[in-house]
Amino acid sequence: MFFFSMSTRYEASSCRRKRFAASTVGVLAGLGLSAASAVAEPVRQDLPPKLQGLLKQEMIQIEKAMQEIYSAMLKGQHAVVAEKGQSIHDSFILEQSLTDEDRRDLKAAVPQEFLHMDAYLHELSASLAEAAHAEDAARQVETFGRMTEACVACHSAYVTDRFEGLEGAVIPAEWGMSMKEREDNTEG
Ligand code: HEC
Repeated sequence: MFFFSMSTRYEASSCRRKRFAASTVGVLAGLGLSAASAVAEPVRQDLPPKLQGLLKQEMIQIEKAMQEIYSAMLKGQHAVVAEKGQSIHDSFILEQSLTDEDRRDLKAAVPQEFLHMDAYLHELSASLAEAAHAEDAARQVETFGRMTEACVACHSAYVTDRFEGLEGAVIPAEWGMSMKEREDNTEG
């Protein structure tokens, strides 16, 4: 879904903590946990069918790339990790097949926080490719973990209509959140 990323990455971050303060799960947020699905709504049905289709296709490709990265990472195949990380970063379909109007529709249909999670995953995939170029195995593992957190954070917040097992999942508030957002949050 990195169709969002370029235009949304640097917008002022919406503060998760504010949202929680206004909700009944404020206590959880105070503990550093979030029950995002308690307040977030599934996004799929708000997307026009064309975009839904593209998003789904992209997700399937991202998952495949992640699996290939996992396998390559274990074996020190840095070039494969770099290539697949880069392919997630560059994204497949979207650059080619989205019109400006599609992009606007997308941004209008999903919440800011969804866009932030998307942008963060985008960033992480670039970091992963960098770590691979540097042949830094530890950083690859760390970054892969962060990416996995972002998958679960977004799915548990916005895709519970399909991934029912993630409904009500209590996960650390910072999952899917960039360092910058984390800092903004601790500053209050
Ligand atoms: C910003 C939100 C977001 C992030 C981050 C995210 N996803 Fe998704 N993902 C979605 C949405 C929305 C759907 C539902 C698409 C649909 O069914 O229309 C989805 C669906 C999927 C599916 C199901 C595809 C299918 O239809 O078979 C897979 C697999 C998937 N994601 C993998 C991943 C992986 C792997 C990551 C992390 C590397 C990830 N996603 C990160 C939002 C996200």
